[in-house]
Amino acid sequence: MRKINIFDTTLRDGEQSAGVNLNLHEKLEIARQLERLGVDIIEAGFPAASKGDFQAVKQIAETIKGCSVTGLSRSVQSDIDAAWEALKGGAEPRLHLFIATSPIHMAHKLRMTPEQVVEAAVSAVKYAKRYFPIVQWSAEDACRSELPFLAEIVTKVIEAGASVINIPDTVGYITPKEYGEIFTFLRNNVQNIEKVSLSAHCHDDLGMAVANSLAAIEHGATQIEGTINGIGERAGNAALEEIAVALYIRKDYYNATTRLNLQEIKRTSNLVSKLTGMVIPANKAVVGKNAFAHESGIHQDGVLKEKTTYEIISPELVGVQSNSMVLGKHSGRHALRNRVEELGYTLSEEEINKLFVRFKELADKKKDITDDDLVALIFEEKFDHFKEFYQLFSIQVQYGTNQIPTAVVVLTDGQGNEIQEAATGSGSVEALYNTLERCFQTDVTLLDYRIESVSGGRDALAQVFVKVRANEIETSGRGTAQDVLEASAKAYINAVNRVFMIEKMREENKKSEKRPALR
Ligand code: KIV
Ligand code: ZN
Repeated sequence: MRKINIFDTTLRDGEQSAGVNLNLHEKLEIARQLERLGVDIIEAGFPAASKGDFQAVKQIAETIKGCSVTGLSRSVQSDIDAAWEALKGGAEPRLHLFIATSPIHMAHKLRMTPEQVVEAAVSAVKYAKRYFPIVQWSAEDACRSELPFLAEIVTKVIEAGASVINIPDTVGYITPKEYGEIFTFLRNNVQNIEKVSLSAHCHDDLGMAVANSLAAIEHGATQIEGTINGIGERAGNAALEEIAVALYIRKDYYNATTRLNLQEIKRTSNLVSKLTGMVIPANKAVVGKNAFAHESGIHQDGVLKEKTTYEIISPELVGVQSNSMVLGKHSGRHALRNRVEELGYTLSEEEINKLFVRFKELADKKKDITDDDLVALIFEEKFDHFKEFYQLFSIQVQYGTNQIPTAVVVLTDGQGNEIQEAATGSGSVEALYNTLERCFQTDVTLLDYRIESVSGGRDALAQVFVKVRANEIETSGRGTAQDVLEASAKAYINAVNRVFMIEKMREENKKSEKRPALR
């Protein structure tokens, strides 16, 4: 079977999704999980874009040794230099260079002639080869480029030293048949094409990213780029978990395989969804809540008699646990630690101690603590890295059908100062958020608010996800508590703390923080 390399860009193209801003700890956790999943290459960010991106790429490259770590770079020397500084400590440093090749991008965005684009691409590859053993070159908007020009520039960058050629469908425009034909055209018209690896990178604007990626494999691609859960700019990127499972289930047809440990798919998908705040639609292939649910009587009857009647993917294949272990108030620290480890999380002694306190508090109020509850508590403990900003001390909310909802909130500001405010609203959550806005002394617009229960039952934990805009920055936040209002307050504070963190980083590095335009 042909081996297909999986290039994960959740932390670069995926992080470009509107309202997604991961901090360093969150990026590292995702990178570790991607390594466990078995991806071949992690695109950790765009080092020249900002100090934050640079540090994240550097730390990921220095931490992850089970796969190659790469970073994106425009075709300019300063970007390549920054990328080398960030990536040189990695196990297998590689660079991802790109430049646009479509008439529309060259004329309007780059304002360069095709000859100038060829020259910039070739000299960037040659310059990058001084540092990097592996240089991947991408023709941005390749699918709207003229094929003879695409073949010419690809021939020249291969001659200059590129060893991976990526053909992005940047705007999600192509169809599977056409995409396959581009690969065939390049394989027939580019000198030395057999010496390089051909890569597909698809966006999902017309809902064809996965189908296009699979068509590329049929026409000679040996590397597929995409993101977990298909997150990414606009409609997102190709969902890697769908491609990997399609190759596995239909190996009879594709005759191709990946290195992925498919049983890590569900955990990876959950982690990415929770940390980015991007919900997985219930009907999403492979990882959606309903992907393995059989609703109609005829289907249920069939599955009970013989699973394969209606089930082509078993939930266990992608790591969906059918029975979750239950802990309770008599469970000790040892049992908790064991379960945390079995669930695949690595916590420091201090984190375990804090988790144990939260676990006991919850166990006093809730009879059974399920794996989902535990994971929600782990997230609270492990990813609350905003201690230098606002923390919730207490809330009090009054609501009655004939009363004006009123909230009183006490926060601490990270320097030990207490802030107390009160405000009203037309509902409890609005009263709470009006009060918090007063505490922050910043205008905050709530863009989205979602609530879900972590497990079943009336005593379930509530998990709230919000998206906010403040000081022209969009962020998302999450909060978990047994009470929905407390969870709402935590989510809002979490999102606003991210705004302050981004502002602080920008302040610290005014010059380099400006993200260069990708498109
Ligand atoms: O979609 C795209 O063209 C990209 C490139 C930067 C590879 O993400
Ligand atoms: Zn892209």
